[in-house]
Amino acid sequence: MSKPCVILGVTGSIAAIKAPKLVRLLMEKGVDVHCVMTPNAAHFVTPFVLSTLSGAPVITDMFDSTAAHLPHLKVAEEADVFLIAPASAATIARCARGVAEDMVSLTYLATKAPVLMAPAMHDTMWDHPATQENVKILKSRGVQFVGPGIGPLADNTQGEGRFSEPEEIVSAVEKILSKK
Ligand SMILES: Cc1cc2nc3c(=O)[nH]c(=O)nc-3n(C[C@H](O)[C@H](O)[C@H](O)COP(=O)(O)O)c2cc1C
Repeated sequence: MSKPCVILGVTGSIAAIKAPKLVRLLMEKGVDVHCVMTPNAAHFVTPFVLSTLSGAPVITDMFDSTAAHLPHLKVAEEADVFLIAPASAATIARCARGVAEDMVSLTYLATKAPVLMAPAMHDTMWDHPATQENVKILKSRGVQFVGPGIGPLADNTQGEGRFSEPEEIVSAVEKILSKK
């Protein structure tokens, strides 16, 4: 039986520094991982690191001439889960509104796979009515969420918006895979 396939979409949150651990944990569970990133995510983690760990090319720029020849869009069709982790407020907004202007939001619109988002942001961003409305829209369309948790945030304040631990996110992915 072929391995389950997860597309990991990484966005511009400080929590993107945990994406490499997420890739490792998923691969340890026997999952085939393909990463796509927003250009802003590359401020926090390099495509090179994610490509090295996943063993697959990582697309950050959808207009990169090599991107047209990479299997990502086919993978988007065949993926078992599309995991967006961390999911920034901006990416959540784009997905909710159907604005496909980077590889993560484009994959969101292109895939038929179940979508799991792990938000990460300051509590003021998470609590904002705009974000809450976008989350509500996505939930009504079947998108599943893991977190965010309550706890210390990147600026040492406390609040809701904390990125779930990679182990918890992987468990949520496994739960979806087990139902397929
Ligand atoms: C140091 C730093 C940390 C940031 N952390 C977050 C974050 O945790 N969550 C978030 O939603 N935005 C965060 N932002 C803002 C996003 O990077 C910004 O909204 C960006 O447009 C997100 O783009 P993307 O969703 O296309 O990756 C941060 C910005 C900076 C400069």
